[in-house]
Amino acid sequence: MAEVLIAPSILSADFAAMGEAVKNLKKWNADWVHCDVMDGEFVPNITFGMPMVEALRRNTDMFLDVHLMIVKPERYVERFVRAGADLVTFHPEASEDAFATIDKIKSSGAKAGIVLNPDIPCSVAKEFVDKVDVIMLMGVFPGFGGQKFIPEVMEKITELKEMTKGGKVLVELDGGVTLDNAPEMIRRGLDVMVAGNAVFKAPDPCMAIECLKKGRTA
Ligand code: DX5
Ligand code: ZN
Repeated sequence: MAEVLIAPSILSADFAAMGEAVKNLKKWNADWVHCDVMDGEFVPNITFGMPMVEALRRNTDMFLDVHLMIVKPERYVERFVRAGADLVTFHPEASEDAFATIDKIKSSGAKAGIVLNPDIPCSVAKEFVDKVDVIMLMGVFPGFGGQKFIPEVMEKITELKEMTKGGKVLVELDGGVTLDNAPEMIRRGLDVMVAGNAVFKAPDPCMAIECLKKGRTA
């Protein structure tokens, strides 16, 4: 089994020092950079848009994982890819035509993924399995970093891994990841783990990333 990839969320980093944050992530052996885009409508918070992704792209060669928590993502996906996104994920219920949105992302040259909120069953992902590169499970209701993981989501990892068996789709989890719950996620076969506070608020973020990867608690 391949090692789990760690995608620290820069939502938990210092917004006044993003260039430094991505440079540190490389030094700390993170795998992807998770960028949380919020529009104040799909979720009750506003973060940043294409200019931030573009600025990050100028400061790092790392894989940019852009998570769109916005209404009608189809309006902006091409611009996020042009700004430098390597992967664009969105919430299908926010899109008027999720399949067309996936096509738009892919034809712009990036990987595409859908995101399932904690109250959306894995069965919704079935019709997307052969069309996306990533299926991401939310471990919390999106909007803010540092929330507590909803334990019922753990079982969904197993369910999705079963559904995607034999294919190339990566299963990613976002929200509420800690050094304590990461080992079980890894045991269930999780491919990519997003971690905001668990990395950026750790006394030693490099060590935190190493522990998350190895499924160690200290
Ligand atoms: C939640 C965001 C997450 C969040 C993760 O709305 O999509 O990416 O920043 O942060 P932690 O790991 O602190 O829950
Ligand atoms: Zn996210």
